[in-house]
Amino acid sequence: KSIKALAPATVANVSCGFDIFGFAVEAPADEVIITLTSTPGVVIKQITGDGGRLPLHASSNTAGVAVEAFLESIGSEQGAEIVLHKKLPLGSGMGSSAASSAAALVAINHLYDNPLSREQLLPFAMEAERIACGSAHADNVAPSLLGGFVLIRGYAPLDVAKIPTPPNLYCTLVHPHLELKTEDSRRVLKASIPMKDAITQWGNIAGLVVGLMKPDYGLIMRSLHDVVAEPIRAALIPGFENIKAESLRNGALGCGISGSGPTIFSLSTEYSIAERVGKALQQQFESMKLKSDVFVSKIN
Ligand code: HSE
Repeated sequence: KSIKALAPATVANVSCGFDIFGFAVEAPADEVIITLTSTPGVVIKQITGDGGRLPLHASSNTAGVAVEAFLESIGSEQGAEIVLHKKLPLGSGMGSSAASSAAALVAINHLYDNPLSREQLLPFAMEAERIACGSAHADNVAPSLLGGFVLIRGYAPLDVAKIPTPPNLYCTLVHPHLELKTEDSRRVLKASIPMKDAITQWGNIAGLVVGLMKPDYGLIMRSLHDVVAEPIRAALIPGFENIKAESLRNGALGCGISGSGPTIFSLSTEYSIAERVGKALQQQFESMKLKSDVFVSKIN
């Protein structure tokens, strides 16, 4: 018996919500095909789309780690063979490692007639994140598994909640052909922040939640700022300030680094604005001799 599952790219942080906010987009999505085997052990049979760069050893691969943890938790004596079709670029800040483990978990859970809920699958996907980048953050795996816009209220114990989103919200992802390792873009951050920055940040976090729920697009716009990670990480992305200014000039509500970068996300109230922003940012990267890919999605 085998099953194929897809899991989408995600935007973590969403400017102000470092490690606590993330939302899913429509595309791209990783594809995982899992076949149960009668002999124990997880085997990665094939990976395509990664240029031969992902580990084929199950315990070092996010899809493999997640499936191993799942099989152990349900006390299965079976094993699994995994085929992974990578559609998300590696080291892009679009939740590439999370999409592979989320798709793998949805597939293996289905093969056992869904003994676990999507929320119960989260810890396995977080364990895979720890293997991939040294930190078990949930702001990519939670939206990739649950869909929509997700708040990670707390990590110990894990407490997640979906945030309703307004009817007109579109995301533009512009992925310049550069790679940043999450591990490296976490290492540059400071261990503590001044009280005045904390106050600014939690004002924006609360503002974004109220803005999304009401909905109040002006409040969303005023809240899409980050004084914690973006000022430091901006230096890792060529021309970041110009890129952001160009996005806002073209009518986006807000613009920031997707996850740990280098992909840039922008939010807009209309599909046509989201498309225009994508073209403008692609040109901006082009002027720096950087090729980029654009993805536009509705958020819901
Ligand atoms: N919250 C994480 C970070 C997301 O910004 O490091 C990584 O995709």
